[in-house]
Amino acid sequence: MSETPATEAAGRAPAAASLPAAATAPAAAPILSVNNIEVIYDHVILVLKGVSLTVPERGVVALLGANGAGKTTTLKAISNLLGAERGEVTKGSIVFCGETVEALSPNALVRRGCIQVMEGRHCFGHLSIEENLLTGAYTRRDGGAAIRRDLEMVYTYFPRLKVRRASQAGYTSGGEQQMCAIGRALMSRPKMILLDEPSMGLAPQLVEEIFEIVHKLNVGEGVSFLLAEQNTNVALRYATHGYILENGRVVMDGPASALAENEDVREFYLGVGGEGRKSFREVKHYKRRKRWLS
Ligand SMILES: Nc1ncnc2c1ncn2[C@@H]1O[C@H](COP(=O)(O)OP(=O)(O)OP(=O)(O)O)[C@@H](O)[C@H]1O
Ligand SMILES: [Mg+2]
Repeated sequence: MSETPATEAAGRAPAAASLPAAATAPAAAPILSVNNIEVIYDHVILVLKGVSLTVPERGVVALLGANGAGKTTTLKAISNLLGAERGEVTKGSIVFCGETVEALSPNALVRRGCIQVMEGRHCFGHLSIEENLLTGAYTRRDGGAAIRRDLEMVYTYFPRLKVRRASQAGYTSGGEQQMCAIGRALMSRPKMILLDEPSMGLAPQLVEEIFEIVHKLNVGEGVSFLLAEQNTNVALRYATHGYILENGRVVMDGPASALAENEDVREFYLGVGGEGRKSFREVKHYKRRKRWLS
C-alpha cells in the first residue's frame, strides 16, 4: 500500500528546489529498483513484507521509519549482506543498472558500483584514516595513480579527513569516523551509496555537515544515494523523494516536500502538530490514528 501524496504535490517544487543541478534534475530511468521483496531471518522471522522502491539515476532517496521498521534490512537486501545475518530475500527482485543482482556477491555488486556504508560507521580502529580510505579501493583494478587521484578527491570533499589522515581512526571523533566510512566507500568509485543512519549519535551541526557533503557528492560526482534515516527532518531536506517504512511495509512515499508537509508525517515523524494541534504530546492517544492505516 503506497498512499502516495504525489498528486497533491505534483505542482510543488521538491524540498531540494533551492539546491542546484543533479538534485533537481528531471526524473531519469531508475538506477535501482526494488520490486516487492520479502525478507526472512532464520527461516522463520518475516521482516520485509513486499517492499518496493526506486532510486532515479543521480537521485537522493530517503528511507524513513522508526526503530525496527526494516530500513537496515532493506539496505542489506540490496547490498547482499543479509547472508551474514542468516537472512534471505525470499520473494521479489532487485535490479541495479538494468541487471538483476540478487545472486551477486557483495563484492561483485561493489565492482558494479553499488556499496553500502553500514550503520555505526565501521572503521578499522587500529589503522590510520588514510589506510582506512585505501582499503576502500580493494575491488579496483585501475592502478595506483587512479587510486591516489581519488584519495585527493575524497580529501577535497572531506577536508577534515585530510587534516587527520595520519591519525589512528579509533581515536578520531564520531563525525570523523562517519566521514571516513563514507570516504572509504567513495574509494570504490560507486555509482550509488546505500547510507545507513549517517546521523546516528552525531551533534546536529555535524549531521548538517555530513548531509551537505552528501549533497555535494551527488551534484559533483553524480553519486546516487539511498539514505536510511530515523532523522526524518534532515533526510527530507536533502532527499528528493522519500519512503516511509513501518513494520516491514512501505506505508507512504512521495516527493520529499510533500512528505514534509503531510499532516501524518509531521505528527508522527517530525514531532510537529497538525492543524489546531500544538504538539504530538497534546494529541489524545485515541485520536493519534494514522490516516494511512484507515
Ligand atoms: N539478524 C536478525 N535476525 C532476526 N531478526 C532481525 C535480525 N536483524 C533485524 N531483525 C529484526 O528485523 C526487524 C527490522 O530490523 P532493522 O534493523 O532492519 O530495522 P531498522 O529500521 O534498521 O531499525 P533501526 O532504526 O533501529 O536501525 C526488527 O524487528 C529486528 O528485530
Ligand atoms: Mg537500522
